[in-house]
Formats: sequence, structure tokens, C-alpha cells
Amino acid sequence: MNKSLVMAVGLMCGLAAAASGAIAEEITSLRGMRPIDQAPDVPEIKHYRKDGEVLPRDYVQQPPLIPHKIEGYQINLKFNKCMSCHSWANYKEAGATKISQTHFEDREKHVLANISARRYFCTQCHVPQADAKPLVENTFQPIPAISGQ
Ligand code: HEC
Ligand code: HEC
Repeated sequence: MNKSLVMAVGLMCGLAAAASGAIAEEITSLRGMRPIDQAPDVPEIKHYRKDGEVLPRDYVQQPPLIPHKIEGYQINLKFNKCMSCHSWANYKEAGATKISQTHFEDREKHVLANISARRYFCTQCHVPQADAKPLVENTFQPIPAISGQ
């Protein structure tokens, strides 16, 4: 490698480092500049609807929306609050929808005796509804033949 090439490469690296430094200053994460051990400044959403009837589904494969509050419902390694009402053992007494049979299959569609690890963290897919206006207008219509409405 000759000297001027080495210098050119060095200069480019320097410029790239300077540029990435400038970008890093402009971008802040959603939690702001809070250190990781402190709670973020996220506004609390208080408009969750009260417990009510099930909500309509917009398409067949949609994970149904949660029609009740879930504040304080723990899902961790040892305990799953959702299952205390939605499991096959408890749904009747709780008057809740029985958890779907599809949640007891592994990815090869082998039927399992217990809920699949892929479906354990319910709120990955099921979300409660806040009474909020849509951010953008949406004219989506489900296909009538399979909308189930
Ligand atoms: C205390 C009991 C209870 C707990 C705990 C509970 N649910 Fe429910 N859930 C219900 C009942 C009752 C309904 C049915 C509401 C109705 O028919 O009006 C329901 C309905 C639902 C539905 C709608 C089903 C449909 O067919 O549209 C979803 C999704 C749901 N719950 C998810 C969850 C998730 C996720 C959790 C945990 C974060 C959870 N629930 C915890 C009682 C419970
Ligand atoms: C990976 C996404 C995913 C996860 C995680 C998940 N679900 Fe679902 N759930 C779905 C989808 C999609 C449907 C609708 C199609 C179906 O039945 O598979 C559904 C359907 C349901 C239904 C309605 C069943 C019916 O007969 O109409 C209930 C109740 C439910 N889920 C509860 C739960 C609970 C409780 C958990 C956690 C233990 C959970 N789900 C985890 C995606 C998920």
C-alpha cells in the first residue's frame, strides 16, 4: 500500500466516525435519556375500555382483541394470570373464551399437552383496546365471505 492510499483510507475512516457521532447525538430512544435502571417517561394511557363484550375481528387470522383491562396481570416463568381464566380447566367458571386449540401446537403442528412456548406470552399478540381515535384514516374492509360477521 502506498502512503497516499493509507492516508486517504485513514481520512475516510475519520469522516465516517465523525458522521456517526453526529447521528448518534440526534437520535434518542423512546425512553429518552433516562439511565437503564430508571423508569422511562412514557405517558400512561388511561382510556382502556372497561370489561365488556368481545370485540369484532377484522380478519380471520386476527388475534382477538382483549375486551377487558389487563393491568397488573402477570405473565412470567412460574405464573400466567391469563390462563387462570382462559385455560380449558378454568374457562367455564370464569365465563371466559376458551383458549384456542391452535395454542397447543408446536411449529410442526404436533399437538402438545400444555400450552406451546410460542403462545405463552399472550400479550405478544393479544392487546387491550384504548378508546383512542385512529392516527390515520383506514378504509380496510374484511372479505365478506370469511369475515365471520
Ligand atoms: C379474571 C378472568 C380473566 C383474566 C385473568 C383474563 N381474562 Fe381475558 N376474558 C375474560 C372474560 C370473562 C372474557 C369474555 C368477555 C365477554 O364475553 O364479554 C375474556 C375475553 C378475552 C379475549 C377475547 C376473546 C374473543 O373471542 O374475542 C381475549 C383475547 C382475552 N380475554 C385475552 C386475555 C389475556 C391475554 C389475558 C392476560 C393478559 C386475559 N385475557 C386475562 C376473563 C379473563
Ligand atoms: C403468537 C401469537 C399469539 C399468542 C402468543 C397467543 N395467541 Fe391467542 N390467538 C392468536 C390468534 C392468531 C388467534 C385466532 C386464531 C386462532 O384461534 O388460532 C388467537 C385466539 C385466541 C382466543 C380465541 C379462541 C376462540 O375460540 O375464538 C383466545 C381466548 C386466546 N387466543 C387466548 C390467548 C391466551 C390466554 C394466550 C396466552 C396464554 C394467547 N392467546 C397467546 C394468537 C396468539
